[in-house]
Amino acid sequence: MPDDQIETGRSAPDLAQLLESRTLERCPFPIPSSWFFVDFSENLKPGELRNVQLFDQEWVLFRGQNGKVGMADPYCPHLGAHMGHGGSVCGDDLRCPFHHWQYNVDGLCTAVPYAKVVPPIARKQPILRTLPTRERYGQIWAWFHPRAEPPGWELPHIPCMEDEGWVGEQRGNWKASTAIQEIVENSVDVAHLKFLHGAAGIPPIHVEYEQHMQRFDIGGGYIVGQTWGAGAVGTVTFTQEGVSATLFSYTQPITRELTKMNMSFRHKAYPEGSRELHIARKLIEHMVHEAEGETSAGFESVDMIIWNNKKYRHKPLLCDGDGPVLQFRKWFRQFYVASPEVMARI
Ligand code: FES
Ligand SMILES: [Fe+2]
Repeated sequence: MPDDQIETGRSAPDLAQLLESRTLERCPFPIPSSWFFVDFSENLKPGELRNVQLFDQEWVLFRGQNGKVGMADPYCPHLGAHMGHGGSVCGDDLRCPFHHWQYNVDGLCTAVPYAKVVPPIARKQPILRTLPTRERYGQIWAWFHPRAEPPGWELPHIPCMEDEGWVGEQRGNWKASTAIQEIVENSVDVAHLKFLHGAAGIPPIHVEYEQHMQRFDIGGGYIVGQTWGAGAVGTVTFTQEGVSATLFSYTQPITRELTKMNMSFRHKAYPEGSRELHIARKLIEHMVHEAEGETSAGFESVDMIIWNNKKYRHKPLLCDGDGPVLQFRKWFRQFYVASPEVMARI
């Protein structure tokens, strides 16, 4: 019998094990706390306002005339109008359509045009929930924390997006019907690279964790990745014959069961027609789907069907050939702020 066949000395079945999948939630996770991509800066001009679905709710995204971006809970603290339907940007602030109360990007009320006495609370503290925002890499980012705590870390320097000598306008997005943690777990699940992606073997992996960061090296330098926060910011670099291509990923939790993966594909400015440019372009193909001359396939071709249909097993049965899945999950838990009952299921 080959080594990988399991000899079955039968014992009575464990009913809890057999029936567990019926009671599992597909995505038991709350929305994690992290910086998350909101939109490209070019899509929001001064004076513009738009509704955005993110973090399992709607938000009003706006840019004041001073260029600052605000991301606010849509429901006005006065009488609850949805400010993304009929509201406007007035100067630097968001104006509610119902009675024209105004709010700045920090959630402070800046005007109540018809009141002689503004409610005292509205003068000294934010009364509208707004998220801290940043603009970096040509993108708008927001800090989400379920209890509205301030950012615990700052967005990192991303060489492929911020340094001279890098090019690549190609970008894409994909929606998967699963939670962000399930997608990021792929980075350490090396066994699926052989059986799902079609890699020649199960590559070795080296992973390091430090606070909100994860670094991994798969296949001795072939795939090198970094993740910051709850899978929200990431780079993955593929290297072949001394040529590298990097994908910058900025994934969004739209709802608890819907995740939008966004990626920009970058490489060094190799000369047109060069061998290096050909390899870099092929590496990018390979990240996403099938590439010429490669037997293995990128995530679009194979991972989507798994993500869209799987359930999360919080007590998985793992074997010695699996990647460091539990270590990954332990690291990822730091991004959740939830009751012990919820944490027990994730
Ligand atoms: S409900 Fe917004 S100003 Fe009254
Ligand atoms: Fe995968």
